[in-house]
Amino acid sequence: MEIQLKTAEDIAKMRVAGRLAAEVLDMIGEHIKPGVTTNQLNQICHDFIVNQQGAIPAPLNYGTPPFPKSICTSVNHQICHGIPSEKVLKKGDALNIDITVIKDGYHGDTSKMFHVGKATVPAQRLADITQKCMYLGIQQVRPGATLGDIGHAIQVFAEKNHYSVVREFCGHGIGTVFHEPPQVVHYGKPGAGEVLQEGMIFTIEPMINQGKRHIKILPDQWTAVTKDHKLSAQWEHTVLVTADGFDILTLRAEEAGWQERI
Ligand code: MF3
Ligand code: CO
Ligand code: CO
Repeated sequence: MEIQLKTAEDIAKMRVAGRLAAEVLDMIGEHIKPGVTTNQLNQICHDFIVNQQGAIPAPLNYGTPPFPKSICTSVNHQICHGIPSEKVLKKGDALNIDITVIKDGYHGDTSKMFHVGKATVPAQRLADITQKCMYLGIQQVRPGATLGDIGHAIQVFAEKNHYSVVREFCGHGIGTVFHEPPQVVHYGKPGAGEVLQEGMIFTIEPMINQGKRHIKILPDQWTAVTKDHKLSAQWEHTVLVTADGFDILTLRAEEAGWQERI
């Protein structure tokens, strides 16, 4: 499968799907507190997506083996694809919630870090630097830039802060298909890789580890964790390549003015 350039009609539908995914993250924040289980967060998101948004939670039954829940909840040393469970969240836990909705056949995919109660200092620092990695990657996006430019910007900032970049998972093209070409890796060399063109839509979703980059997959065949059990963080946006730069299709109101803050 080749990289699809989206039509104006595709882009209009991707904007809707992206906005809905962002709204789920806005909605769930107030429910994250000590004592809540990740299953409860999954149920609240599922019901909101299905009943309020008239959309479909893309993770449910996705892949092999079928992902069993509607969202991903990755806590502390879990890197990504954490499966909601009866696990009770406690003060100081850091978690990524990753939302993908399908609306009118199109996918919107976005994730953010949350902290239960007050964030610990190391978890806050890792989350902040990982978010900045994502933003620095996004700022590289324009026609003529390359995927390597994105990966390089992310890798340099992560490693300058003595963190490591997960290699086994990457961003991805997205549209009517959840994961389509290109693969957007979060490391690389300037000028390397595919040249970006107006109309491409892909995610940028760096996973940054506090310790070493190495991962392990749990026996559930989905949950990725750090091999050294140190913390990991991730943020994700769905991004459109425009004529002169980028447009973030999953931007939340709370992010307004991000370019002046990073
Ligand atoms: N939302 C994830 C991503 O960013 C993929 C989750 S697949 C699932 O690509 F099956 F684990 F939900
Ligand atoms: Co994604
Ligand atoms: Co995602």
